[in-house]
Amino acid sequence: MTQRIRVFATCDIGDALNILRQKGYDLEVYPAPEAPPKSLVIEKVKSGIDGLITTLRDPIDAEIFAAGKGTLKVVAQYAVGFDNINRADANKYNIPFTNTADVLTEATAEFAFFLMGALARKLWPAEHLTRENRWGYWHPYLPFLGDEVTGKTVAVIGTGRIGQAFIKKCAGFDMNILCFDPAYENHDYIKAIQEVLDFRFQRGISRERVTIRYTPLHEALSNTDFISLHAPLLRQGESPTPTYHLINETTLRMMKPTAMLINTSRGPVVDEVALARALRENWIAGAALDVYATEPLPADSPLRDPAIADRCRLLPHFASAARITRLSPDPNQGMAGRCVQGLVDVLEGNYGGDITKMPNVVNKEGFAK
Ligand code: GLV
Ligand code: GLV
Repeated sequence: MTQRIRVFATCDIGDALNILRQKGYDLEVYPAPEAPPKSLVIEKVKSGIDGLITTLRDPIDAEIFAAGKGTLKVVAQYAVGFDNINRADANKYNIPFTNTADVLTEATAEFAFFLMGALARKLWPAEHLTRENRWGYWHPYLPFLGDEVTGKTVAVIGTGRIGQAFIKKCAGFDMNILCFDPAYENHDYIKAIQEVLDFRFQRGISRERVTIRYTPLHEALSNTDFISLHAPLLRQGESPTPTYHLINETTLRMMKPTAMLINTSRGPVVDEVALARALRENWIAGAALDVYATEPLPADSPLRDPAIADRCRLLPHFASAARITRLSPDPNQGMAGRCVQGLVDVLEGNYGGDITKMPNVVNKEGFAK
């Protein structure tokens, strides 16, 4: 009798796990909503599991890979970001890991766009006014006004999948778009968007001609009304173009006092202490954040300062938190389905067993012949 394939999931990712149960896998799911302690993950890996399903809450490094030496065949991460997984360690131990790119692209991009709009039009302070019964009169400019996003200039920092989807949504709002990417420029995409913008102008759909182009970082930050971050977190030593604290005191000071920052990428791309100060001292006008250096956001975070609450929106790492995006068992629609597919590809030797051909494997470089 052949041994059943054993998988441990650090989190319940919903009905997609039934795919594994129906295949006869021996599946164990950590039952609590919080992440398991690392010691428990190590214990499970040591017990000889073939596959490990992780979330961005689980630190996956040499300790974990060493515990799975000779037995662990794949780590399947339920997220597009994988900064919690040490790529060099995975390669050292020859263990492929997968992510869930593509399926959360539009959800994350639209959430960033909605955050930008909510911030610009002051939806949060405006609703508080109504709910707290402080709405004393309708008035042309009292007690405050917001700003349109239509026709404004937005800087898109990072033009990978999510950055491009965000650009597409900004194009629909007749925004001027300045792009910056430290590692990769997709000029074909930018050209196609300019054609769309020109067509809308020529046909009278848009009132003004707007443009899109790549610029150096300084120009992207200094000439824009909105700055939206779509770069992966890369720490010093992990890449020739690290993004850790890309937004810091120096780069915040480049921004206009009316500028607003949106972060749906990873918390450490922004120096939070510098940002809180920038908001307190009005170097910039606002920020909307979905991700933080420490998650959940600590009670003593400077971002919680009541003095900046009117211009600082704080969301709970929620950009991909749409039902289909998170839970669909269809690998072309849901993170859950894609996570399971990535796991199965490796464990069942799909693609002729060639890891470099498996679309969801991230560290293909570790397996090139
Ligand atoms: C969420 O943050 C993800 O990386 O998928
Ligand atoms: C505003 O409500 C208007 O009617 O202009």
